[in-house]
Amino acid sequence: MDAVERAAALREYAEQTASCTKCALSAGRTQVVFGSGSPDADLVFVGEAPGFHEDQQGVPFVGQAGKLLDRLLEGIGLTRADVFVANVLKCRPPGNRDPQPEEIAACEPHLFRQIELLEPVLVATLGNFATKLLSGRPAGITRVRGTPQEHRIGGRAVLVMPLFHPAAGLRTPRVAQTLREDFERIPDLLSRPAPETPPVEEAGTPAFAAEAASDAEADQLDLFG
Ligand code: URA
Repeated sequence: MDAVERAAALREYAEQTASCTKCALSAGRTQVVFGSGSPDADLVFVGEAPGFHEDQQGVPFVGQAGKLLDRLLEGIGLTRADVFVANVLKCRPPGNRDPQPEEIAACEPHLFRQIELLEPVLVATLGNFATKLLSGRPAGITRVRGTPQEHRIGGRAVLVMPLFHPAAGLRTPRVAQTLREDFERIPDLLSRPAPETPPVEEAGTPAFAAEAASDAEADQLDLFG
């Protein structure tokens, strides 16, 4: 797909998801927060779920955590216009509670389709929910952050870089410092040749989804894990 086709395909998919009613969150949302940024981005960030401001504005990471994300990007010479930002859930959970397994299961096809259309070089997962979903592994963010992993997403091998969630960085200066250090590795990861041999396990398969959902149920996921 060339840049024009990719932008059109993403726009069309955004229009389709705007009326999604696959889970109960559709009843309480102001709007679906599809994601924003460059359709041609090599780098895609995946957060958790829209909060109050995101639900109001229809754009991910526009609150305080988003401002930290902007500063972290600026620190490596990037802006939002250079990347694409999305979330595991496209609709706001009430009171900003954690995503529920059935919500993740209902919404994950949207994220996988986005990644399939975007064909990024690198997916940076922000926090536990995105990391566990896209890695298909139960290991928490504290353990895996900063170590890139290769995964098969949308039929392609993609490098996944687990990072702390910016909201955790707002609460704990040590986490903010770790985030800065992990972000500094991103330019090098982006310049690596794309992984060639896709691992067999595909994120988004029914088995994968079931494992991620039961894991989410089993442990009380939080931003640190
Ligand atoms: N936190 C997230 O994970 N996503 C947003 O869009 C905003 C805050």
